[in-house]
Amino acid sequence: MTDVRTDGQRKRVFIRTYGCQMNVYDSDRMADVLRPLGYAMADTPEQADLVVLNTCHIREHASEKVYSELGRLRDTKRERRAEGRDLTIAVAGCVAQAEGEEIVRRQPAVDIVVGPQAYHRLPELLAEAERKAAIRRAGKRLPGAGVLDTDFPAESKFDHLPAPQGVRAGSAFLSIQEGCDKFCTFCVVPYTRGAEYSRPASAVLSEARQLVAAGAIEITLLGQNVNAYHGEAPSSSTGGSTWSLARLIHALAEIDGVARIRYTTSHPRDMDDDLIAAHGAVPQLMPYLHLPVQSGSDRILEAMNRRHGRDLFLRLVDRLRHARADLALSSDFIVGFPGESDADFDDTMRLVDQVGFASAFSFKYSRRPGTPGSAMPDQVPEAVKSARLAALQALLGRQARDFNISKVGATVPVLFAETGRKPGQIIGKTPWLQSVYAEGNERLIGHIVEARLIEGHANSLAGEIVTRAYEAAA
Ligand code: SAH
Ligand code: SF4
Ligand code: F3S
Repeated sequence: MTDVRTDGQRKRVFIRTYGCQMNVYDSDRMADVLRPLGYAMADTPEQADLVVLNTCHIREHASEKVYSELGRLRDTKRERRAEGRDLTIAVAGCVAQAEGEEIVRRQPAVDIVVGPQAYHRLPELLAEAERKAAIRRAGKRLPGAGVLDTDFPAESKFDHLPAPQGVRAGSAFLSIQEGCDKFCTFCVVPYTRGAEYSRPASAVLSEARQLVAAGAIEITLLGQNVNAYHGEAPSSSTGGSTWSLARLIHALAEIDGVARIRYTTSHPRDMDDDLIAAHGAVPQLMPYLHLPVQSGSDRILEAMNRRHGRDLFLRLVDRLRHARADLALSSDFIVGFPGESDADFDDTMRLVDQVGFASAFSFKYSRRPGTPGSAMPDQVPEAVKSARLAALQALLGRQARDFNISKVGATVPVLFAETGRKPGQIIGKTPWLQSVYAEGNERLIGHIVEARLIEGHANSLAGEIVTRAYEAAA
């Protein structure tokens, strides 16, 4: 592998990320793996020699988008070849894991298919793809296109990845847990990401220190089931051979420079006493929790194999708010799971009413091949799903707006992350993860600055930077 093209230019990679934050983390890590091979980042597929689609399989719509993108890339590849150059196309992530060879069958222009646990092997896969391309250029036929690696290798990819560089504007993701053993009957994640695995606490702490050294002041701990974390304890640690998420959060809060800690996504069953208490005890742990409930109906929760009922969720909410009164709650909902009646859906609406969410994601049930839900009788008609989703989203939207408006008048620390659409505007996040727009200097990006919230909208707030803090940071 050489790091320059025949025309003397550096090779460039474009990575498109679909799906959840774990994929965002994985995309950054793929860039880290490719950097030593000489790949610089490209801003568009047109500028790139290698395009990686890091895909999501969670709903039908998500995985179908990948195939339309692949069709466009095939055309680009053809044009390139006509000019005597090439484009290498790699499919990574959960569609790669779930569909494997089927991807190359549906789109033969794909050179590499690599699963979420195997991407540390990208250098070997690229070398193999290049070897195959050279044989093809020599006019020879090859049995079977594409290079595939969708193993769940015994070694952890984390032991093979270079130091992370994925810090943007003071904020970084850190994957601490992967996979899922819960097997909710609608969900593909246990099949695409494999069995639950927690990284050793010492590896997490050392990655956190590297991220802080690279400029992170906010760290978001990631896992499909992040609060089921039970990583091997550091050798110096007393009291038990594993650390819980709560213990890990306490240790992270000790690292100089870590101003904000968040974690996502959690399962209600794994919200233990220590973690609830940490929300009251650790000032760096932000007052926001994404805790998917999916439905408010016990009957549907049972059919979903969620292993918790409505009451357990409501009790958790009470205990969490007792630990941290201003906690902003977020959740995920699925409407139209097989067998969901009007009464079941009413239970969901009542639960939403009772809790009051600051934000939420809601989806129509999507039938995923291979999951138990897809074979269940009483699939709900599309029109019913649409009507229920609209009603639920209207309610959740009102709650989000009310929550935003409730903060108007307060002066709060905002971590500014990017420039806004209007000139002179910057956008950041409150502790409760609301977006704030304010007029401010770009130099404030990556800093936490006090802002007074002056207007609340459905999806954001308008703010004014408080001058004293502005001068101190700028
Ligand atoms: N690990 C997370 C969920 C990851 S998927 C957790 O356990 O909460 C993110 C969300 O997608 C889920 O919470 C669920 O609401 C939604 N989802 C998953 N499978 C789905 C399906 N088949 N149809 C519709 N929505 C789905
Ligand atoms: Fe999917 Fe359920 Fe596991 Fe979440 S807990 S990843 S919804 S199987
Ligand atoms: Fe999608 Fe895989 Fe994440 S299916 S939601 S990218 S774990």
